[in-house]
Amino acid sequence: MFPTGFVWGAATSAYQIEGGLTADGRGTSIWDSFCRQEGRIVGGDHAETAIDHYNRYRDDVKLMADLGLTAYRFSVSWPRIQPDGSGAYNAKGLDFYKRLVDELLSYGIDPWLTLYHWDLPQALEDAGGWPARDTSKRFADFAATVHAELSDRVRNWSTVNEPWCSAFLGYASGEHAPGRREPAAALRAAHHLNLAHGLAVQAMRAQNAGSQIGGCVNLYPVTPATASEADQDAARRIDGLQNRFFLDALLKGAYPEDVLADLSHISDMSFIQDGDLAAIGAPLDMLLVNYYSRFTVSGAPGGAVSAAAAPTDSGSPWIGSEHVGFVNAGRPVTAMGWEVDDSGLYETLRRLADEYPRVPLYISENGAAYDDVLGEDGTVHDPDRVAYIEAHLRTCHAAIESGVPLQGYFAWSLMDNFEWAWGYGKRFGLVYVDYETQARTLKSSALWYADTIRHGGLLGRAQ
Ligand code: FCB
Repeated sequence: MFPTGFVWGAATSAYQIEGGLTADGRGTSIWDSFCRQEGRIVGGDHAETAIDHYNRYRDDVKLMADLGLTAYRFSVSWPRIQPDGSGAYNAKGLDFYKRLVDELLSYGIDPWLTLYHWDLPQALEDAGGWPARDTSKRFADFAATVHAELSDRVRNWSTVNEPWCSAFLGYASGEHAPGRREPAAALRAAHHLNLAHGLAVQAMRAQNAGSQIGGCVNLYPVTPATASEADQDAARRIDGLQNRFFLDALLKGAYPEDVLADLSHISDMSFIQDGDLAAIGAPLDMLLVNYYSRFTVSGAPGGAVSAAAAPTDSGSPWIGSEHVGFVNAGRPVTAMGWEVDDSGLYETLRRLADEYPRVPLYISENGAAYDDVLGEDGTVHDPDRVAYIEAHLRTCHAAIESGVPLQGYFAWSLMDNFEWAWGYGKRFGLVYVDYETQARTLKSSALWYADTIRHGGLLGRAQ
């Protein structure tokens, strides 16, 4: 049994589900432009309609209520609310989120709002994007406005979803929008995403609305493939870039010295200004953690690259550590090629409790893609996903028992959706979506999750 008050949620993001890219005065985002470029998205998929949540949100909230979710994590689309990322706001865009939140509240579902899940207004990218410092200030203004308009009904706020992805997939590997491959710019982007978080927290706190505010990071335990010095150095480097660069900044107000040293040939870091780290490291009410898998790495030349490679032609996101190989350690993998390892979640949670103590934690994303099939009898049987979520929830429970301040869990994702560069080929939903008809069907994992929530804990081993 989980503690009373444990948050049982599911998560989505605006770009992956809404569609309606030109509806009601929405501006253009970097993902709109990216999807139009040949070779960027598997199969040439795009999110014009996505799963039409912009029009179907009432039905989707009803589904959440049927599942018994106590919370729903969603993101707002910046270009829907402020089409150019600066200047005029679009009342119709804001109204959509007000209607969505009111609908959630009418069923007693707690709205968890993420301010940025990767859909930067194109006008801001044209002005330099995240490598430009001004983008952080634009984001703080945006956050202040959304908070002023919605904090009467939304209590839980998070700033930037997975800054690692925005910075290093967006500006170093180019797998994500805007698709740039510029290591020095990616590093500037990483700092400015952290700064955007810090300035947004400041701006929201200044409104004294009593909101709970957090940052959101994607964490992976990183293990060396062997005990060799080269492999241990590789693990230190990847842990530094993936985890500590963001955790130390947000929770300690400092960048790790060894990571700065690894990157010193790429940049002199002169873009870090006095006061930035104090703003970035200001106290948070909670940390949102997205967990999917673990990395096993090798520093030896020619280290095998795991099956979890990028779907499209792209470079390395691991700036300054491009020599590191990602090794498949032989665990079962999901349809993404990501190794299934719930013990990595335990390690991650324990590490947070030990090295970054006292901040309440939430798993804000956890889940798996599998090749789901809608059966002739109209059901979707997804035992692998049930087993994945069951194992990870069991781990969450063990972590809580060991004293980790974990207070909630959000499955990724509520519904199948547009999985970025992978397009619609990868299904993460508890709910199956037929992309032709937009029909929604509860998978067995959704029914299992609903039972778990109703019971307030795990009922027994999954089949
Ligand atoms: C995370 C993203 C989310 C989704 C999952 C599978 O990195 O935050 O949008 O794509 O991965």
